[in-house]
Amino acid sequence: MPRRKVSVIGAGNVGATTAQRIAEAGLADVVLVDIIEGLPQGKGLDLAEAAPVVGHDARIVGSNGYEETANSDIVVVTSGLARQPGMSRDDLLAKNAGIVRSVVRDAARRSPDAVLIVVTNPLDAMCHVAKDASGFPRERVIGMAGILDSARFRTFIAWELGVSVEDTHAFVLGGHGDTMVPLPRYSTVAGIPITELLPTERIEALVQRTRDGGAEIVALLKSGSAYYAPAAAVAEMVDAILHDRGRVLPCAAYLQGEYGVDGLFVGVPCVLGEGGLQRVLEIRLSGEEAVAFRKSADAVRELVDKLQAMPVV
Ligand code: APR
Repeated sequence: MPRRKVSVIGAGNVGATTAQRIAEAGLADVVLVDIIEGLPQGKGLDLAEAAPVVGHDARIVGSNGYEETANSDIVVVTSGLARQPGMSRDDLLAKNAGIVRSVVRDAARRSPDAVLIVVTNPLDAMCHVAKDASGFPRERVIGMAGILDSARFRTFIAWELGVSVEDTHAFVLGGHGDTMVPLPRYSTVAGIPITELLPTERIEALVQRTRDGGAEIVALLKSGSAYYAPAAAVAEMVDAILHDRGRVLPCAAYLQGEYGVDGLFVGVPCVLGEGGLQRVLEIRLSGEEAVAFRKSADAVRELVDKLQAMPVV
């Protein structure tokens, strides 16, 4: 089997941790790219020197250019500015749009068949930028958000009930923002909906903590935002795609009529395998859930409209 290659653009917290997870899981060779001279080379070398101890043969290189990224199977985009305390994801919009546009152009040109996984925030809007800049079909532009949001919800549910996270599943739909839509009805412990296990007010508290999950970490760290859980989520997507697993994972996908939404990236259950997004699963939403989903999609639409009205930087 030919060696697989994943390029990670942005060698900051999320990018470097993603590179580590991919290499240490033996998923692929990794090319780490950053605009700061020495940073991707230094982190790449450090990760490579860990390989004999950890025990894997993935090759890891760092670069300030894109030559080494040529013919990647997957390109993960984490470059951009991270959220600071008091800063909303939307504040990052213009700055990160310029960064994502330029890195995606450079990477897509050298890897025209790659799957793009977008991580930079504001996530749903950055997915639009990546799709436009690459010209890739929707199957090959996917945003990482729902796995992270669901993982946070799963963590809080498992803690609340004192059970294993492994038996805890959760569903979060909608945009990766304050309007995300955690779905308690589809969130289960060993197949039992949490609505059968927890009182409504406790569920609501866990839902709220999930919504505020990113901000909670930003407030604690004081500089920068979450990266261990985001990197783990990206690695799960990479594994699903490279191993053609057909995993059902909540991701931001470009909807074309599903859930009554057209031409917009929103978080929905996706089937991920060879080639990227293989299918969007449509589930029936209750009246209240549908309203929340629509509100979330409207928030993404507003951001995308704002973005389109901005001068190209
Ligand atoms: N090309 C390549 N790399 C760039 C560019 C560029 N044009 N512009 C910025 N970068 C790099 C920075 O030099 C930095 O090393 O992106 C990296 C971002 O790393 P961090 O600041 O550590 O941010 P991180 O925590 O990794 O978050 C990255 O992911 O979760 C989201 O909201 C988060 O949008 C943010 C992104």
